[in-house]
Amino acid sequence: MTEAPNPAQMLPDPTAGLEGVVAATTRLSDVDGQNGVLILRGRKIEDLAGVVSFEDAVMHLWQDFGFTDAASMARAFGDARMTAFDVVPLLEGASSSLDVYERMQLGLAALVLNKDLPAPIAISGALPVFLAASHRIATGLKPIAPDAGLTTAVDLLRMLVGDIQPSGYSDALDRYLVTILDHGLNASTFTARVIGSTQADMKQAILGAMGALSGPLHGGAPGPVLDMIDAIGQPENAAAWITDALDRKERLMGFGHRIYRTRDPRADVLKAGLQLLGSENPKVQLAENIENEALAALKRAKPDRPLDTNVEFYTAVLLDAIGIDRSLFTPLFATGRTPGWCAHVLEQQQTGKLIRPASQYVGPKPD
Ligand code: COA
Repeated sequence: MTEAPNPAQMLPDPTAGLEGVVAATTRLSDVDGQNGVLILRGRKIEDLAGVVSFEDAVMHLWQDFGFTDAASMARAFGDARMTAFDVVPLLEGASSSLDVYERMQLGLAALVLNKDLPAPIAISGALPVFLAASHRIATGLKPIAPDAGLTTAVDLLRMLVGDIQPSGYSDALDRYLVTILDHGLNASTFTARVIGSTQADMKQAILGAMGALSGPLHGGAPGPVLDMIDAIGQPENAAAWITDALDRKERLMGFGHRIYRTRDPRADVLKAGLQLLGSENPKVQLAENIENEALAALKRAKPDRPLDTNVEFYTAVLLDAIGIDRSLFTPLFATGRTPGWCAHVLEQQQTGKLIRPASQYVGPKPD
């Protein structure tokens, strides 16, 4: 057998990370990384988030797949929440070793899909219920049944906390859910499309996408962003803390992006959402200070690589200001992204084509 080349001596793999590779044609979303523009099916994210409700934004995204009745979408999501609550006893009986995210995945695996509700609605409506129930189970509280007459954002907060929260809170959460609805061919969306391309059912595609999203380089960043803000504690500590982290070759969570070479437009959409929550929160002031210090330090440390604020930085600040525990940041990201994943699965399945790329073999050759 011929020896495999020493990895240290191998040429860098030009396909590593598939950077710049076009792997799908989509009408759903476009990420213009040079100009910092995100378009969802013809509308800029700034013209959707904070302007239309989560349900209407989903309707906007799904309109090519036979979902055309905007008025019935919120009601259908409510019905889906009610159906999903039937699974909650199973979640209550499951092992205490499961974290919130794993319990949501368990709920999704157990969700029975039937002809009464299209799979994208049944799944997208179920995740808020599984999220809230899983959090309450994890904190020793009884899950709260959904109210089908409320919007997703209002009911999600109610199911988490126990009663209806001030409208500024649910409006901010609604803005967040719209902001993260879809974002081109990111790792989890690509995963969903790959699974969908095998004609696996929608649940399997969403479960796989959730797996991809859970990593710290993708949807797992906002919790560590808040850890960083808490570790810095005071504005005067920011510069030294950040310099030390960069000297240790650590990455600053909430900064940098594979596509954006400028500011992620979602950062400002979420930052604007903070105004819904009043201006007295000292953590918001601290976060702005840290952001400024981080941007300056990244410019010094990586002058050739534009590294700017990404969606996760103000996700952490906004969700914390709403009162959402940091353990729920990734679960909430999955909840808001699920209708986007569903849309990509449907779009991929319309092509009827299995995704099956090639790899270049560089291993040992048989004698
Ligand atoms: N802090 C410090 N340095 C960073 C950085 C960050 N947040 N993001 C990238 N860099 C540096 C890398 O260390 C690397 O430097 P090097 O060339 O000297 O090794 C260079 O920038 C390029 O990084 P690379 O990992 O090749 O770029 P990418 O496009 O694959 O990375 C992310 C994109 C998102 C994975 C990366 O920016 C990151 O890890 N960010 C922090 C995690 C985060 O916020 N994730 C949420 C994304 S929405």
